[in-house]
Amino acid sequence: MTTKTRSSRRRPIAIGNWKMHLTVSESAAVAQRLAGLLGDPRRVEVVIAPSYTALQSVGGVLKETGLLLASQNVHWEEKGAFTGEVSATQIKDTGCRFVLIGHSERRVVFGETDEMVRRKLAAALKQGLNTVLCVGETLEQHQSGQTVAVVRDQLKKDLADLTDGPSGKIIIAYEPVWAIGTGRVATAAQISEIHEMIRGTLSEIFGPASAEAVRVLYGGSVTPDNIADLATIENLDGVLVGGASLKPDGFATIVKTLEKVKR
Ligand code: PGA
Repeated sequence: MTTKTRSSRRRPIAIGNWKMHLTVSESAAVAQRLAGLLGDPRRVEVVIAPSYTALQSVGGVLKETGLLLASQNVHWEEKGAFTGEVSATQIKDTGCRFVLIGHSERRVVFGETDEMVRRKLAAALKQGLNTVLCVGETLEQHQSGQTVAVVRDQLKKDLADLTDGPSGKIIIAYEPVWAIGTGRVATAAQISEIHEMIRGTLSEIFGPASAEAVRVLYGGSVTPDNIADLATIENLDGVLVGGASLKPDGFATIVKTLEKVKR
């Protein structure tokens, strides 16, 4: 069903997910420092996802750099009476080019369903945003051998509207829930196997040529210490980094290592 793919034609990408951390001024300062350390990283795409409150300030800092801005979430409606939500149009208006969708903290903590994720993807793509669809199994699912079934099911449900093709705007982030913020990292063999399965599933949905263009990332306790090993995984196109992205020096090391290994 699946064929081994080389990632070399796809541009590596490192995304920093700052979650609910940093004030507006702290966010701008971290972005400034990171931009200073990285210069204009041409071979690796670098994306920062601060809190909603800091999108504008971080966007202002990144404007003069090669780094790009992301939102951590989006609502599926364009506007209306949805207290506390932010639409794709509003996100785009702050300068975001990317959006994370279906992060496990959204799914597990806030009860986001595949139906919601599917609608969010559609709304974001309609605005031309690059969507980072996060998928991954819980510890219980992992231990009971359901990883492949769970991730395949998420992909099929979340991408159900998009049989015409991914239009170059979809990125998949495989993030095992048990590896997020725990210091436990999936092994290279596990990541490689699931990434291959993901590309096989994308190929069933979109056809092989379109599936080949989609970047597939890993996330879950990525650090400056383990990036060198992770980056050698052939079918890994990049990383989604939480905790370690809050420290500019560490995140810069992650980006530079990815750049060096994926050369
Ligand atoms: P972590 O988070 O790097 O802190 O494990 C990853 C994520 O949630 O995207």
